[in-house]
Amino acid sequence: MATATAKAVQPLHFDLPQLPFAEDALEPVISAETIALHHGKHHKKYIDTMNELLQKEHVQGRTLEDVVRAATGKLFNNAAQAWNHDFYWHSLSPKSSQPGAALRTRLERDFGSYEKFVAKFAAAADGQFGSGWAWLVDKEGKLQVVATANADTPMAHRVRCLLAIDVWEHAYYVDYRNKREEYVQAVIEKRLNWEFAEKNLA
Ligand SMILES: [Fe+2]
Repeated sequence: MATATAKAVQPLHFDLPQLPFAEDALEPVISAETIALHHGKHHKKYIDTMNELLQKEHVQGRTLEDVVRAATGKLFNNAAQAWNHDFYWHSLSPKSSQPGAALRTRLERDFGSYEKFVAKFAAAADGQFGSGWAWLVDKEGKLQVVATANADTPMAHRVRCLLAIDVWEHAYYVDYRNKREEYVQAVIEKRLNWEFAEKNLA
């Protein structure tokens, strides 16, 4: 049996998390083909590369969040993408839903109306130049929409994330080609997981 000391020097290792829904569950907004590639190839590659780097690079902590917050360079990019993708899968729902009363009140308070929030979220996602993410976050008690480039994530900066939309081309190119706006609009209208957002806010 390994001692506590021996265990402590074992490299960290993370498994590819399972999707919280079937690959075809988001159709017709996001196809099974996109989800299979996005989860089975892209998300898996980030996890595999992170695990390889963790064989050589020691970081403080035990969780994926710890790794993201401690890492720099290539390890940061892969660990952050590993975390972002798991968060993105949970930000999506096979069912169309609307924010519950408490969250809707917060959206109205901080954006003016639900419709203004939608417009701002879509603009952040559409306007992110190149690869990145759009987020609904709770920053110092105020809901805000932010965009991040490449692998960057508000979580790394200790900002509480409520929802994410992946705007890397691999997220939409099979289904929407270059029409990122159509993908973003369809996801916001039909596939956001408001229960997940509420859980993150609690
Ligand atoms: Fe992605």
